Amino acid sequence: NRPPLTECLNLHDFEAIARSVMSEKAWAYYSSAADDEITHRENHAAYHRIWFRPRVLRNMTNVDFSATILGQKSTMPIYITATALGKLGHPDGELNLTRAAGKYGLIQMIPTLASCAFDDLVDAAQPGQPQFLQLYVNKNREIVKSFVQHAEERGIKGLFITVDAPQLGRREKDMRQNFEDIGSAVQQKAGDEVVRDQGAARAISTFIDPGLDWKDITWFKTITKMPIILKGIQTWEDAVMAAEAGVAGIVLSNHGGRQLEFARSGIEVLVEVVGALKERNLFPNPNFEIYVDGGVRRATDVLKAIASGATAVGIGRPFLYAYSAYGQPGVERALQILRDELEMNMRLLGAQTLKDVVPSMVDARSITAH
Ligand code: FNR
Repeated sequence: NRPPLTECLNLHDFEAIARSVMSEKAWAYYSSAADDEITHRENHAAYHRIWFRPRVLRNMTNVDFSATILGQKSTMPIYITATALGKLGHPDGELNLTRAAGKYGLIQMIPTLASCAFDDLVDAAQPGQPQFLQLYVNKNREIVKSFVQHAEERGIKGLFITVDAPQLGRREKDMRQNFEDIGSAVQQKAGDEVVRDQGAARAISTFIDPGLDWKDITWFKTITKMPIILKGIQTWEDAVMAAEAGVAGIVLSNHGGRQLEFARSGIEVLVEVVGALKERNLFPNPNFEIYVDGGVRRATDVLKAIASGATAVGIGRPFLYAYSAYGQPGVERALQILRDELEMNMRLLGAQTLKDVVPSMVDARSITAH
């Protein structure tokens, strides 16, 4: 009772279809956001306040939107961000993402709380297919150290430490669900302190250390050579501290609206952060990349972020919805849609490559004016 995949013409379509075919629990966990979900809605809506300034007569026969993310090749300036509990939506869980990413030349960020075992997700990658790892930091640093070092040995190309979740936000849709079966791969990470009567997010998050601070970032640099990226930066002040701490990059993110309600959208923070870093001669900097996630649903959103200074954007929920409804082919269709949208919009914008997607191509005045 799903429409044929060819009827999905944009990323929003997957959400509507997934909602009608997914289990209550999966829908509640994937779609939910904190409190009244204002930040969640704002994430996408904020892109509507940026307008384009396209250039013309620039020979748009060929356009190339391939990108380099942390030194790794990607066919688009997009990566598949970390989302926990992949098997809630589909029996193959995160493997749907690994395989589709391999086919389309994209990078997947493996979540700490993947439903599939970490090694199975690494084994499922094609030869040379880069993968990143998202890390929730356990109170037990020995566990953290051995996980991180194992990931490095397995060839993971970037360690994204989530810094916006000292406590999980209240996702009430999810909290109304009981959560009996978290699966063995997740149970191993979550340990014994599993709370099962307040939804999936609470069930799996009690191991996360609320005591994490900047000193820990220094420690991470002593235990791994992987580039370290801080996921969940939300102000220019912390962006400057991150650049000064010598990490390889930051993700401007509010966790898909699932953490602090009334946190600003990533794209709004991007405009602020780039301005502040420029003033301090910290941007552009080839050794410090800026990514943004939250609410990216169209290639036009992607291009607005690139024009505003991002190296790439992360996309989460649309891929979960795509595979919950259609499995791996759904994710492939979503990636094909993004590819087609990027090609067309690069042409209409007058940009042959991503280097041509420059700040003067966007009018972000309604975002900068506070
Ligand atoms: C997430 N996100 C997330 N982030 C993280 O660092 N660790 C995690 O385990 C998860 N898990 C997770 C589960 C689900 C179901 C969602 C929707 C999100 C946040 C994620 O990486 C990213 O910041 C947002 O999802 C981006 O917003 P969109 O693209 O989903 O709007």
